[in-house]
Amino acid sequence: KTQTDDFVIDDDLILKIFKPREDFSHKGTYGKSIIIGGSYGKIGAAVLATKSALKSGSGLTFVLASNCGYEILKTTCPEAMFIKGGEKFITQIDEMENAVYGIGPGLGTDEETEKTLLKFLENHSSPLILDADALNIISENENGLKLIPKKSIITPHPKEFERLFGKTENSIERLNLAKTKAKDLGIYIVLKDHHTQIINPEGTIFYNITGNSGLAKGGSGDVLTGIITSLLAQKYSSEEAAILGVWIHGQAADFAAEKYSKESMQPTDLIDEIGNVFLDLN
Ligand code: APR
Ligand code: MG
Repeated sequence: KTQTDDFVIDDDLILKIFKPREDFSHKGTYGKSIIIGGSYGKIGAAVLATKSALKSGSGLTFVLASNCGYEILKTTCPEAMFIKGGEKFITQIDEMENAVYGIGPGLGTDEETEKTLLKFLENHSSPLILDADALNIISENENGLKLIPKKSIITPHPKEFERLFGKTENSIERLNLAKTKAKDLGIYIVLKDHHTQIINPEGTIFYNITGNSGLAKGGSGDVLTGIITSLLAQKYSSEEAAILGVWIHGQAADFAAEKYSKESMQPTDLIDEIGNVFLDLN
């Protein structure tokens, strides 16, 4: 394939993907999102992902976290339903019918969590979003990659990508390796970077140009996971959810940078700008 088969994500593509909300609809129309993450010491990551899922339109939003995060999550995300996944760490993930899973933010890599996640993946076949510690757990496991359901979306930063697929010399090699892996595994790879690239199972690359270095802060990635999970729950295809999600995340970051500066903007500010991004889209 030549370069010309690849796309820059522009306004035309985004407007083609975006579906305005229908008047005659109810919460069931917009799907169920479930964020799985938040273990002792990492509850904040689950808060960011859950808030982002809520702000991106999903009809019902759940968060499965360890019980030590209960008070925090009920206070910061009252609209989300809490599911207890364990005491300090996540040791139980139950299957919920027709829910879209976004797994990883603050999940932790406790041995019990590792077993729990791998067992869940063995029995789960619909597309889901895997990020952060979910990817770290998969990297540590010989058969981990094979357990990822087809058409799932993984969102590794460069280090997580390296842990999953091995070292590459430069960004071009990394992109080529991502193409091979996306095809082999039949998944979407969101290669997070200054200009994030989305690689589909056919090996086509979509380049995102929204976003800025104000995102280079702990927690920005957790926001992206929440947005993409919410979009996939709303019946966008995996490809659409990945492209639209990455674009919205970057656009929210550009709005936040204008208001607060790249230095001061926080992942929380990003979440607050998601609404303005949707206002512009509508
Ligand atoms: N320009 C544009 N976008 C950027 C830039 C930049 N200079 N730097 C980062 N970003 C974007 C990335 O594209 C990505 O969407 O910010 C996000 C950062 O995501 P992560 O690297 O996953 O960062 P983080 O939110 O800190 O992850 C939280 O989970 O993945 C683990 O090890 C990670 O402990 C960390 C935690
Ligand atoms: Mg991250």
